[in-house]
Amino acid sequence: MKIAMIGTGYVGLVSGVCFSDFGHNVICVDKNPDKIAMLEAGRVPIYEPGLDAVMARNVTAGRLSFSGDLAQAVDGADAVFIAVGTPSRRGDHHADLSYVMAAAQEIAAAATGYIVVVTKSTVPVSTNRKVQAAIAEANPNLEFDVVSNPEFLREGSAINDFMMPDRVVVGVETERARKVMAEIYRPLYLRDFPIVTTDLESAEMIKYAANAFLATKITFINEIAALCEKVGADVKQVAKGIGMDGRIGNKFLHAGPGYGGSCFPKDTRALARIGQEHASPLQIVEAVVKVNEEVKRRMIDKLLDLCDGSFNGKTVLVLGVTFKPNTDDMRDAPALTIIPAMVGGGAKVRVIDPQGRQEGEALLPGVEWVSDVYTAAEGADLLVTLTQWNEFRALELSRIASSMAVPRMADLRNIYSAEAAAEAGFVAYDGIGRPRIAERDAV
Ligand SMILES: NC(=O)c1ccc[n+]([C@@H]2O[C@H](COP(=O)([O-])OP(=O)(O)OC[C@H]3O[C@@H](n4cnc5c(N)ncnc54)[C@H](O)[C@@H]3O)[C@@H](O)[C@H]2O)c1
Repeated sequence: MKIAMIGTGYVGLVSGVCFSDFGHNVICVDKNPDKIAMLEAGRVPIYEPGLDAVMARNVTAGRLSFSGDLAQAVDGADAVFIAVGTPSRRGDHHADLSYVMAAAQEIAAAATGYIVVVTKSTVPVSTNRKVQAAIAEANPNLEFDVVSNPEFLREGSAINDFMMPDRVVVGVETERARKVMAEIYRPLYLRDFPIVTTDLESAEMIKYAANAFLATKITFINEIAALCEKVGADVKQVAKGIGMDGRIGNKFLHAGPGYGGSCFPKDTRALARIGQEHASPLQIVEAVVKVNEEVKRRMIDKLLDLCDGSFNGKTVLVLGVTFKPNTDDMRDAPALTIIPAMVGGGAKVRVIDPQGRQEGEALLPGVEWVSDVYTAAEGADLLVTLTQWNEFRALELSRIASSMAVPRMADLRNIYSAEAAAEAGFVAYDGIGRPRIAERDAV
């Protein structure tokens, strides 16, 4: 199959690289010339473990190339995937479809023979029909079909997720397009990965419903964590106890500082808007959006409490700023709410993140970027774990505690425990939904 992939972001690049690894001929297109120049030089513009090696081997094999020229990539392709961004629209939180519709127009102008136009971007119900109508209007003689093929990969494990998916969802309405999609995903069919075939609207809805459900699960355990703190229960034990129930499952039950990232915040808001527009409000999703904001604010209260009620003049060391480990993505990361609150309150904030600096520098003005935890801890009043990168999981806590001005820890990912912190010499420790040590208890 000859495939054109429009957009070389987290989804487009991973999908394009993996399709070429399936044996297809793929041209990845982006309108950002810097990205194309990097890719042509063999460099990956994002941090995604394992992507560089799969990319290099398919470029070498001659199956994968990069281009800024959409028309040339689309002409003669069997399928063109739209994998451009659908960010939250300013003001109303609708999914901004301008990039998707612009790509559709460009495809209509470039295609000359039968082509399957596949939407991989996360788009509200009815968008694929709009794409269909726009192409038909712009190029009435073109033979084409539109397919909805939402993507479920997770940043940080994207290659695995793409190559070994829980399922592939294909919204398709003609036999001709179904055959093209079956050919594209043949390696997955052969290995018996489930392929769910639906109509266009159901495929679009599956993606939003899946993300909203996962965001709900995280938010649920975050609210339970807040209650655990009040009643003296331990949310880690609670999550374990409920997660063993097969109907509930143990994934997405880690209490933390609120969900962030490139998908959950914008997709929950967009789904809430879709519900309102169709006079079928999604009250649970609306509550999730609201509670998640409160969870982030609750984190600031925790930190303030550990700083004796004022950030002014305090030195804080923050471990991790990306929205989760193994990515450089900072979009809607809780760090973007929590760190500015401390900087604004007069704290001197030192920040360390294995991959987040390039994105984070512009987003987090006023912080000092450091690289070594132990030297950065010297003279600090508070240590905050904000992203659970592996390298933050086994720190020598006693070494850190002994060099801090006042050894206090806010463990917003529950990496450590009150006992471990106390043993290492911390005088105060606060996690999420777990027993804490307050300074007054220690003295
Ligand atoms: N990031 C994820 O983990 C993830 C997971 C599943 C689904 N999605 C969905 O996939 C879509 C893409 O997300 P992303 O995170 O990869 O976005 P991104 O912002 O990282 O990348 C989008 C890319 O598209 C390019 N682009 C935009 N318009 C273009 C055009 N007309 N021609 C060529 N290139 C163009 C941009 O320059 C950019 O490089 C979104 O709808 C998102 O919701 C994302």
